[in-house]
Amino acid sequence: MTKICCIGAGYVGGPTMAMIAYKCPNIDVHVVDINQARIDAWNSDVLPVYEPGLFEIVASRRGKNLKFSTCIDHAIREADIIFISVNTPTKTFGAGAGRAANLEFIERCARRIAEAAEGHKIVVEKSTLPVRTAEAVKRILSESSNGATFDVLSNPEFLAEGTAIEDLLDPDRVLIGGENPEAIEALVSVYAHWVDRSRILTTNLWSSELSKLTANAFLAQRVSSINAISALCEATEANVDEVAAAIGTDSRIGPKFLKASVGFGGSCFQKDILNLVYLCQHYGLHEVAEYWEQVVKMNDYQKSRFAQKMVKTMFNTVSGKRLAIWGFAFKKDTNDTRESAAIYVCRDLLRENAILNIYDPKVSDEQIRNDLRELMANGSGELSQLDRRLIDENIHVVESMQAAASGSHAVAVLTEWDEFKNADFERIYSQMQKPAFVFDGRNILDHKKLQQIGFEVHAIGKRV
Ligand code: UDX
Ligand code: UDX
Repeated sequence: MTKICCIGAGYVGGPTMAMIAYKCPNIDVHVVDINQARIDAWNSDVLPVYEPGLFEIVASRRGKNLKFSTCIDHAIREADIIFISVNTPTKTFGAGAGRAANLEFIERCARRIAEAAEGHKIVVEKSTLPVRTAEAVKRILSESSNGATFDVLSNPEFLAEGTAIEDLLDPDRVLIGGENPEAIEALVSVYAHWVDRSRILTTNLWSSELSKLTANAFLAQRVSSINAISALCEATEANVDEVAAAIGTDSRIGPKFLKASVGFGGSCFQKDILNLVYLCQHYGLHEVAEYWEQVVKMNDYQKSRFAQKMVKTMFNTVSGKRLAIWGFAFKKDTNDTRESAAIYVCRDLLRENAILNIYDPKVSDEQIRNDLRELMANGSGELSQLDRRLIDENIHVVESMQAAASGSHAVAVLTEWDEFKNADFERIYSQMQKPAFVFDGRNILDHKKLQQIGFEVHAIGKRV
């Protein structure tokens, strides 16, 4: 029986391993993490990651061929294949701060594997990593204290949050980079339990590592491109949704990822582009670095433009005004808020002294305040007294859209949760201050209907 271990029970490691266990009943899957609370949650009825369909899959295999624990060394020793799926945040200190990936957790994992392993192991990089990280991993593993031997493969994960289960069940492709054909085949045969072999691509290690960064950079670039055009649409009375539909019918462009928004978020896009920028600079490719950096700058512009537009529209002041914030997650169907545009928009509004009634169906009060604290402390860990007061006193996290809107001057839609489309806007209008504004940062509402009710409506990239 093949045994797999995965270090890192996060958004990527957890769902991916659950799917392998589900599709390969003949493979034992052991997911380990240094965080006991996270492991406890994986073993409970409330998983630490919210993904539609995930719970059913975990529940069906847990206690059979799927196990979650903190016994890292034991899991390493037993496994034939070891996935590394720990987080690789942007460095906040030292050389490359703000751009380079912090590889400290990856290195720590590699050292731990080198110490604990015996015999031969296949080590798989699941985390997104800068190109040539495998070289460092190989060096560290080669110093193994027990004389263990290793093959290193790169197998980046392309799942998107909110659709993780669908993406894992039916991936566009699985990418495996490596050197030793036997090791590559061992991993291919795991995925081949449910993915057609024609969709399992094999490349050299470096192509695989770079493909992941490139895929995310291209996707983010499409969002920044349509968002750039949204600003021009607002100035010219063109309608960005019409423009997107018109260009999306060109089969060379395609219709996906052309939805103008308040800005992209998520743990990957910004981090991976900054990482790409850093790599280019490292290799002296400054023009290439600048080209990609612009994608992140455009996203920052889109987020701050949205907050500024709210202030300007509401007679140049939101001080002391109650504003309803609908949605805090970086997209619908996830509880993940990493790099969510909502954090930036809320910060800007708070610093205009607005009072925010925030509602998100999956994000907790604690998470919202933590995200704002972290952003407003700007990496230093130190919050100014004023910012602390704003976060403590000007934020009310509430239990429904209705409660958020009641008594507010405006509703701002920052995440495209489906329930927002079906809100009882007539009742909401009757409970709001007048004039009542709606700022639809996702272009999901029926703007004509809202206008008929009496709202003043502002959307992204179109005049309503
Ligand atoms: C993933 C990928 O791994 C990352 O490269 C990609 O860029 C973003 O998505 P993700 O699963 O989202 O990361 O990260 P996270 O949810 O933070 O999970 C990582 C887990 O690794 C955490 O539970 C953390 O406790 C664990 N960890 C971290 C370890 O077990 N050991 C460590 O040394 C460090
Ligand atoms: C992304 C990649 O899609 C995935 O392949 C990779 O493995 C991890 O990074 P994820 O961050 O989970 O996945 O979500 P994604 O659906 O790509 O959305 C990212 C952000 O872009 C979200 O904030 C989303 O709202 C925004 N977006 C996306 C738009 O604003 N417009 C679009 O048309 C598409």
